[in-house]
Amino acid sequence: MVAGNWKMHKNFQEGTDLIQEILDLLEKHDLDHTTLVLGTPFIHLKKASRMLKGLKNAGVAAQNCHWEDQGAFTGEIAAPMIHSTGAGWVIIGHSERREYFGETHEQLRKKAESVIRHQLGLIFCIGETLAVRESGQHFEWVKRQLTESLFQLPAAALANVVLAYEPVWAIGTGKTATAAQAQEMHAFLRRLLSDQYGPDIAAQVPILYGGSCKPSNARELFAQPDVDGGLIGGASLVAHDFVAILRSFA
Ligand code: PGA
Repeated sequence: MVAGNWKMHKNFQEGTDLIQEILDLLEKHDLDHTTLVLGTPFIHLKKASRMLKGLKNAGVAAQNCHWEDQGAFTGEIAAPMIHSTGAGWVIIGHSERREYFGETHEQLRKKAESVIRHQLGLIFCIGETLAVRESGQHFEWVKRQLTESLFQLPAAALANVVLAYEPVWAIGTGKTATAAQAQEMHAFLRRLLSDQYGPDIAAQVPILYGGSCKPSNARELFAQPDVDGGLIGGASLVAHDFVAILRSFA
């Protein structure tokens, strides 16, 4: 899977143009073995879903949702609303949501539950800061991020879950984790999934790498046995780069 995370970029027309550019570049076999997801601002969800309709292995993701189905939560958007646009996915737990909007493990657990309850796919993000990595606590850190929220979900929910490992020090910094660092962490995450849910589920859950992933490093990252694709920020805003990354599986 290659999922784009547009973050807070692209007005309505710019978003439509970017999707059209991506569609124009895509060739028939690009999506035979790879799933493409576009994580857009809410305003694009409906149009983007329409534009991708009919393509196999392609979908649209929101970047956040509230945990309640409806109510007096001014400015918030609920999972059933996202579902009603035709979008099929929600990104939950991005480090920018955790850091700038104070999202807690408990809130993320409730958001993840709501996404699953509404039959949407969940892209659940985890990852450590530079300070945590430098103190050598990164394995414990991501383990806690999982046990306090995602691992509260029942096993049946995991069929609709994608995990995204995004070291915060690599996001938007141009500093990518080495392929070896990514593989080491992804193998650890796979073990945690296996301990919690058993080896079958652990083998099925895609684990994406995110953080300055680009055409020049995607091939090496995706060649790692436990790296199943990428969550792409900056490079997902450039159609050529995004499609090049999509073609980076050996
Ligand atoms: P980046 O962002 O590719 O621009 O580093 C990744 C992300 O935040 O999902």
